[in-house]
Amino acid sequence: VRVDVAMTPLELTAASLHGRTAVVIDVFRATTTIAAALWNGARAVVPFGELDQAVQSARQFERDTVLLAGERLMHAVDGFDLGNSPAEFTPDVVRGKTIVLTTTNGTRAFHASDAAAEVFVGSFVNQAATTVALVEALEAGRELVLVCAGSNGTASLEDSVCAGAFVAAIREALPILELNDAAQMCERLARDVWTDPTALGRAAEHGRRLTAAGFGDDVAQCLCVDAFPVRAVYRDRAITAMNVPHDVEILGA
Ligand code: MLT
Repeated sequence: VRVDVAMTPLELTAASLHGRTAVVIDVFRATTTIAAALWNGARAVVPFGELDQAVQSARQFERDTVLLAGERLMHAVDGFDLGNSPAEFTPDVVRGKTIVLTTTNGTRAFHASDAAAEVFVGSFVNQAATTVALVEALEAGRELVLVCAGSNGTASLEDSVCAGAFVAAIREALPILELNDAAQMCERLARDVWTDPTALGRAAEHGRRLTAAGFGDDVAQCLCVDAFPVRAVYRDRAITAMNVPHDVEILGA
């Protein structure tokens, strides 16, 4: 079984994704927010890289069925319904809605992973649920690529540690793993250095930037392991939950 980590989406090629299972990781905050939205009953999250694409897409929906969400420079975009704070995506707000989401790095990382056979959503908040899906994929003979969204083309600590935590968790189920160098580095980081993810908020550059901008509560929420235990898949350009919560009725087909 082979597991690779891409420290940023820039490393990805069609060949490195072909036939493989990918997981997109953007701990601060896109994949955490997506997990929160889906766990709290959103019908789907549709990721876009560009603002105008997101606005155009949202116009295709009945107004009361869609929420336009996202950030630029961390802050909610003028005229949008929501920003990119997981705490905004409560059941009352998102239940049954399609969320059209655009963020700086995370949503683009999904599009960069389009050539994979299947793509999951990974973060600390849905670590155990996603690990089950990844182990199943590996057992079915698929190779795995953990795609760290990073920050504007550079590696980020929180995504690297989260990728390493996935590698470590997979190893519990499948002892023999063939890892690329980045996967080995990330696993070491998660096992030997950052065993407590909550401390990442102060160490990681984007954690400090978010805190300075007034989003310290988001940072703390993004580091809560298994807080939104959704197994979410990106397929046909939309992200949906595979294990919706028992008390949520997803509306529409
Ligand atoms: C991103 O996609 O770059 C992020 O989620 C940024 C953020 O909102 O903190």
